[in-house]
Amino acid sequence: MRIPRSLGLLARRTFIMLLVSGTLAFPTQNIPRELDTSKSPPTKRQFNSSLDGPELSYNYFAAIGDSYAAGLGAGHVMDRNCKRYNQSYANLINGDPRLGDQDEVGRRFDNLACAGATIRDVLEKQISWLDDGVDAMTITTGGNDVGFGAIVDSCIFGFGRTPCEQTMQTARTYIRTALPVTLDRLLKIASAKLTPGTGRIYITGYAQFFNEATTQCDSVSIALFGRKKLLDQSHRARYNELIRYVNAEIAHAAGRAGPQVIFVDYDWYFGACDGRLCEADVFEPDPNRPNLLIFERKGNDVPLDPPAMMGKRNFLASLTKRIRIWWLSDSELRVFHPRSNGQRLIANVVLSHMQAQAALFRGLDAAPLSTHDVCPA
Ligand SMILES: *[C@@H]1O[C@H](CO)[C@@H](O)[C@H](O)[C@H]1NC(C)=O
Ligand SMILES: *[C@@H]1O[C@H](CO)[C@@H](O)[C@H](O)[C@H]1NC(C)=O
Repeated sequence: MRIPRSLGLLARRTFIMLLVSGTLAFPTQNIPRELDTSKSPPTKRQFNSSLDGPELSYNYFAAIGDSYAAGLGAGHVMDRNCKRYNQSYANLINGDPRLGDQDEVGRRFDNLACAGATIRDVLEKQISWLDDGVDAMTITTGGNDVGFGAIVDSCIFGFGRTPCEQTMQTARTYIRTALPVTLDRLLKIASAKLTPGTGRIYITGYAQFFNEATTQCDSVSIALFGRKKLLDQSHRARYNELIRYVNAEIAHAAGRAGPQVIFVDYDWYFGACDGRLCEADVFEPDPNRPNLLIFERKGNDVPLDPPAMMGKRNFLASLTKRIRIWWLSDSELRVFHPRSNGQRLIANVVLSHMQAQAALFRGLDAAPLSTHDVCPA
């Protein structure tokens, strides 16, 4: 999910207002499908580590996708153009002991994830650069195709010529019609890069931002500009719903693609770990709450590592407001992306699916992945 650069700071800062806008009416017709994963954790197989060598022996690991995959704002920046950060779930997986040391194993790791990438960008600018023989590929994509940027434009800022309701309807129609077809094409082309037989794609969904059942947020606003926007239940629910629709289509596409494609639903854990905004007894804004898994405005990253630094921002910030705006962009853009602890949670859930595949190959026993395994301590 990206916020178009052209909107400038006001747009980025007020992105959050999308979530609380009173104008985001959902028509009752043509409601996309939803996943019903709200009640229980998915059962996972757990690898039996009594074997020699790394549990997950990959010669070639590839990570592709959008800003969620790039880890925008989490940890330390590795690539400024694509906003790749070193606490992205992909980078954490590559550094995980379960895969073995990259140099010792001689593993190739292609991390091509890029903020702002649409599915088409992923096809044309990421998958096309991969060689054949990928043993494991992680993907997060689709959020930019659904057009959150356009929704922000019209519903929040009144930019552009398209009325808000029409923009929302376009997004919903896209989710129902074009998104499944586009995902099918993506997964077909991506699958062709896999090691035949054993190669696997792990495609994730997204996390809902809010606990929508609590009430203490109903009179809270975390918007900076404009009219006071409240985080009441119905507005929280509307935005969550859009994410559930996207997740459902990704899950269905993974199901259609065949056994080499695995859908990774980490959303359930974000809720089970109390990692969303407006969790019980949390009074927003509370951007530095240790268990919070999603960036809020003015929040720090969690200290898995030293907090993310934004290069020369402090120096340049003193020059002019405009330069400051430019250089502060990542700390604004990362709002509603996973914090480092959220990226680590995603990494652990993906890894559990990787272990489940390895267990299947070797006929080993299964065990469920508990919240104890993935929630921040
Ligand atoms: C990210 O970079 C920082 C600073 O170089 C380093 O301390 C940290 O270990 C890195 N994290 C990962 C997961 O590579
Ligand atoms: C792991 O494998 C060993 C040896 O085959 C077996 O004794 C043990 O019960 C297994 N553990 C699990 C959790 O499957």
